[in-house]
Amino acid sequence: MAHRPAARLTVNGQSHEFEGDPRRTLLDYLRLDLGLTGTKKGCDHGQCGACTVIVDGRRINSCLSLAVMHDGSDITTIEGLGDPQALSVLQQAFVAHDGFQCGYCTPGQICSAAAMIEEIRAGWPSAVSGDVAAAPAIDDDEIRERMSGNLCRCGAYDNILAAIRYALAQEERAT
Ligand code: FES
Ligand code: FES
Repeated sequence: MAHRPAARLTVNGQSHEFEGDPRRTLLDYLRLDLGLTGTKKGCDHGQCGACTVIVDGRRINSCLSLAVMHDGSDITTIEGLGDPQALSVLQQAFVAHDGFQCGYCTPGQICSAAAMIEEIRAGWPSAVSGDVAAAPAIDDDEIRERMSGNLCRCGAYDNILAAIRYALAQEERAT
């Protein structure tokens, strides 16, 4: 029988074959095996959001997921959203609005915000949406609620909010 890896994943547009320990978390696989250290390990227990990456368009805590579970998945990390020569709109917004201090939570914040913007566009309600059948409002309460899984020990929340609002406005203008 032909050899088959445990999982084939696409990470930031590149194909990879995972054949390691089935207990390897996606977070450790990204950081330790692929060298994509932008994704951070904060709590390692699903509580801080520092490890947020985008899998098939949805944000997840990569510390709570096993690499072997992602056969066929398309994964985007902070390295796949932009690079220093070509920052994404959100990355530019975090710089322009001083949305970080130590920067440790920032990759997770930006990955989370990128997927959150798509959730709002798709009309998904949140716990604070007044009318779950209506298009969600894009206001501070919605953004705070939707970003509440991403903690910042430096407390840069006001500027993170300003950065996301700015990026949303930029994208609105472009559409
Ligand atoms: S490291 Fe995954 S949620 Fe904290
Ligand atoms: S900028 Fe330091 S933890 Fe958020």
